[in-house]
Amino acid sequence: MSELVTPRQLEPLGFAVPSTVPTHWYNLAADLPEPVPPHLHPGTREPLTPDDLAPLFPMSLIAQEVSTERWIEIPQTIREIYAGWRPSPLVRAHRLERALGTKAHVYYKYEGVSPAGSHKPNSAVAQAYFNAAEGITRLTTETGAGQWGASLSMACALLGLECEVWQVRASYDSKPYRRMQMETYGGTCHSSPSDLTKAGRELLEKYPETTGSLGMAISEAVESAVEDPNAHYALGSVLNHVMLHQTVIGQEALVQLEEANERQADIVFGCAGGGSNLAGLSFPFIGRNLREGSTTQVVACEPAACPSLTQGEYRYDFGDVAGMTPLLKMYTLGRDFVPPAIHAGGLRYHGMSPMVSHAVNLGHISAIAVDQDTAFTAGIEFARAEGIIPAPESCHAVAGAMDYLRTSAEDGEVVVIGLSGNGVLDLAAYEQYV
Ligand SMILES: Cc1ncc(COP(=O)(O)O)c(C=O)c1O
Repeated sequence: MSELVTPRQLEPLGFAVPSTVPTHWYNLAADLPEPVPPHLHPGTREPLTPDDLAPLFPMSLIAQEVSTERWIEIPQTIREIYAGWRPSPLVRAHRLERALGTKAHVYYKYEGVSPAGSHKPNSAVAQAYFNAAEGITRLTTETGAGQWGASLSMACALLGLECEVWQVRASYDSKPYRRMQMETYGGTCHSSPSDLTKAGRELLEKYPETTGSLGMAISEAVESAVEDPNAHYALGSVLNHVMLHQTVIGQEALVQLEEANERQADIVFGCAGGGSNLAGLSFPFIGRNLREGSTTQVVACEPAACPSLTQGEYRYDFGDVAGMTPLLKMYTLGRDFVPPAIHAGGLRYHGMSPMVSHAVNLGHISAIAVDQDTAFTAGIEFARAEGIIPAPESCHAVAGAMDYLRTSAEDGEVVVIGLSGNGVLDLAAYEQYV
């Protein structure tokens, strides 16, 4: 690793950040009645030590990964960057309510206002910051939909790091503008599996026609980081520290609902790929349930084509295809499960965040599977009522909520939809549905 440096980009600029931008991340591990199962060393099957993770992550993020502190302070430089788009809007969906003929109060928390177009910069900025602070100069990562790769490329540009992204082949081929977005920010983007890594070459030899998967792209990005002492790996979802960074979403939503004179959210819907936007929105609500006895329900909406929560097993598994990551206790379809090339590339992951999995296992989150046609039909209906075109991933949350509104919601019930991103760079996916 290179010597510790404090690049100029890391110093706060010193302007006043509005008090509505959260000052801390919230850690659900502090309030859960049972500890989150630890990640295990794949060789010894013993809980990981910080040293095991050191080749991949900076010590500050490793500390966050295992922390049980309820609140973790957000460095001022990160708050300054967040202030560019945070707090993100919580919008009452009046027109959707009218279109559906519901008397429920429907809100959506809209993360598509971030510069990259989704919730992903909430963690990308934090990860780039802590890596740069420990002297790392290059980050590698995977991306499914391209939203995470674009977000990390943006964060690296803002904080003075190089960024190299392996984009799942299905989405690399179908979403050229995402690659251009990454390149505009100065990132480099490869189609995965690639011939640049040993893992990629082996996968290409075994499955030359593969559409790729997040599990494959993770193997490539991890291998590339491990080989370079100046590089670390950044994961866009799944790990505890990523869930943590995303909790700015739910903390803001709690305040915004109160400002809208709502007592509480009765039910929250979020799409779930690796679990980060769902965790970000819902963990502060679940924490309040646990501490104060509120009764917000949380529903994870996953794709029927990759149903880890509704059909997977809850067990230890690798986070990637090649078996290079630690073992994570999670709902999994098996690390070599290659999902069909659905448009919601960000939901094509065989596993699920260990924290989300634990919360599901303890009964704090329930899960439903939504098929692609239903998701896009809902996304189009939402776009025509509210004007925002949801990302294909977010369409799953919209579909879950709309079904509930049509069949079960009571008058006055407060329903919150996590609208994790916009779909303006995913319009090719909409083409067959309009
Ligand atoms: C807009 C959007 N929503 C949701 C997801 C799924 O990821 P997660 O479950 O970590 O929020 C992605 C992943 O790329 C995404 O781009």
